[in-house]
Amino acid sequence: MTHTDSHPKSTSKRVLSGIRATGRLHLGNYLGAVKGMLELQDSAEYDTLYMVADVHTLTTPYEVEQLRTNRREVIVDYLAAGLDPQKSILFQQADVNEHIELAFYFSSVVSIARMQHLPTFKDKVKQHPDHATLALLNYPTLMASDILIYNAELVPVGKDQEPHLEVAREVARKMNDQYGTTFPEPQSFATPGAYVPSLTGEGKMSKSVEGSFINLHDTIDDIRKKVRSVPTATEVGGEMAPGVSALFSFVELLIPEEKSRFMDAYKDGSLRYVELKDTVAEAIAAELKPLQERRAELAADPAYVDQVIRDGAEKARALAQTTVADVKQKLGLA
Ligand code: TRP
Repeated sequence: MTHTDSHPKSTSKRVLSGIRATGRLHLGNYLGAVKGMLELQDSAEYDTLYMVADVHTLTTPYEVEQLRTNRREVIVDYLAAGLDPQKSILFQQADVNEHIELAFYFSSVVSIARMQHLPTFKDKVKQHPDHATLALLNYPTLMASDILIYNAELVPVGKDQEPHLEVAREVARKMNDQYGTTFPEPQSFATPGAYVPSLTGEGKMSKSVEGSFINLHDTIDDIRKKVRSVPTATEVGGEMAPGVSALFSFVELLIPEEKSRFMDAYKDGSLRYVELKDTVAEAIAAELKPLQERRAELAADPAYVDQVIRDGAEKARALAQTTVADVKQKLGLA
């Protein structure tokens, strides 16, 4: 495909999304988020910015050196997955200081009680009772800043992020009412495959749940081993076991043409779980193969990655600075 112009197309809708830099990306991020990002990037209707939410990592306990590595690795995974710096602005949140600045201005229209009642806040406090910090409480305010600083209207994220988008819309409305800014009210954007189940059969695939995920760099042997360990024991009452239903979700996402064959076998009791599992494992490995090849190429060219990161930061900063200058003016700070 030939490329002519990396400037935002003026009639297109702006899209912003981000993934937290808590580790390398896994299959859940790829199928659930990155594939949707790719689709939007390749459509002329959208002007896309994709971020690594590295500053958000500070809201829960983390290892400094791991963050330093991960914030770069997520960019490499984006590139390996096919995100293209000629079509999308790919950047690291911490490279654009204005996100933090705008989040502070936004915090003047956000009440403490509203933040304390968010389910995401309560969950994290339960997980890390000794880390109920102001940074955690402010998580949604920073996310609102990530989105509104670019006047993004569409945010491709999973359902679990809807409460945060609601906060972003409230912030936009309050800022517009109180200060006369003109922020749009951003909407979430569901992409197909947005829900990727955990290999444990419970909940969604997550970096923070051991044994729940497949890494993008896993070999076919790793994948087979992990998929074979999905629990398939029949439930009392004859309901489909959660692990089996997870396996069927993978069939649906990756090899939908095989679904009826396995489902018929499941119904008449002839399904061999090992065959289902190995078929799913092969399908996952096939999906990941091109990414792994591109990743190997990128690993051999760190200067290219550095350049992508520098360019992304520069483009994002130019847009963010315009917004912040306008907000400061309207707040009486300039
Ligand atoms: N909260 C998002 C998540 O955990 C990550 C994120 C941070 C984000 N800032 C964002 C997503 C801005 C979309 C837009 O998945």
